[in-house]
Amino acid sequence: MPATPCAQLLLCLMSVSARLGLGRYVEDNEASDGLYSLLSLEQKRGSEDLLFRRPLRCLDMLATDGYFTFVASRPQLACAAFIIAEPSEVISLELSDVSIDCSAGDFIKMFDGWVLKGEKFPSSQDHQLPVHQRYTDYCSSTGPGAKSRSSQNVAMVFFRIQSPDSGFTLLVKKLHNPFPCNVMSQSPEGSFTMVIPHQRRNCSFSIIYPVELRLTELSLGQAKSNELSPQRQVWSGCSGSGDYVELLGGNGVDTSKMFPVADLCFSLSGLAQMKIGCDNSVVRLVSSGNYINRVSFQYRLLEHNELPRSRENSLDNFCTVE
Ligand SMILES: *[C@@H]1O[C@H](CO)[C@@H](O)[C@H](O)[C@H]1NC(C)=O
Repeated sequence: MPATPCAQLLLCLMSVSARLGLGRYVEDNEASDGLYSLLSLEQKRGSEDLLFRRPLRCLDMLATDGYFTFVASRPQLACAAFIIAEPSEVISLELSDVSIDCSAGDFIKMFDGWVLKGEKFPSSQDHQLPVHQRYTDYCSSTGPGAKSRSSQNVAMVFFRIQSPDSGFTLLVKKLHNPFPCNVMSQSPEGSFTMVIPHQRRNCSFSIIYPVELRLTELSLGQAKSNELSPQRQVWSGCSGSGDYVELLGGNGVDTSKMFPVADLCFSLSGLAQMKIGCDNSVVRLVSSGNYINRVSFQYRLLEHNELPRSRENSLDNFCTVE
């Protein structure tokens, strides 16, 4: 792979990662403004609306519940708001006070996931809905507003608004998700336990930073009843064994386009530790539905001196760190 597309994507992901932090900073900074608008709001509408409120920018990152209002000051052709919640939350989005001209080409579309540089998270392989059902298009919806609920902790709104003073308000609410499957981590360090109980599905935990991953527990192929699970063969690759965990590295967000760094298909505890020097590091659990599968892991950001020196080396291990 030539260095250029990687480098571009790297920039994009880096800026998104930076915005993750920045977004929180800005929101904190504007919290006092938010309170002022809340006060006047309360006088107008009564006290049921005790939610954070701030303007929405054409390119934005939202990490809190609240009302976010966009008003075009000039034609805005390509805007996007990235929304992220905690791993065990999903996101509900609702549009209100919409004044856009659909017939003139304006649009507002909500997406169940993130799209970065044309790549989707979760990938089509890991999401339970077909791609077209993951979009909610305000202009083609029939109801008075448009609502959407994400399947994981990330969602997105794309919009194009051409006439000045047109706009909309987006209500973001985070809801508890008792069975998180796909997750985008908000932070470069933490820990997580992913469980897939008797479901034929795949779940990816994505960390858009270069990290060291340490698997602390892996339990695969636990039989449905309490009978002993058959002695498992250790495969050179795991795809023949039905249920397995793969560690992936890459510079985009679509897990189906990332490089396998390691495959694990036997139960272990506290063994695997791996540095992945890519912009995106993923733990992906593949489940046949026959078993309760469970993987726990910890991760931390790689220091600058731990990053691979040359990214152009060989394809296979370009982001594996010795
Ligand atoms: C899970 O992933 C595997 C390998 O990537 C794929 O063969 C399988 O079809 C996927 N399962 C589902 C339910 O999408």
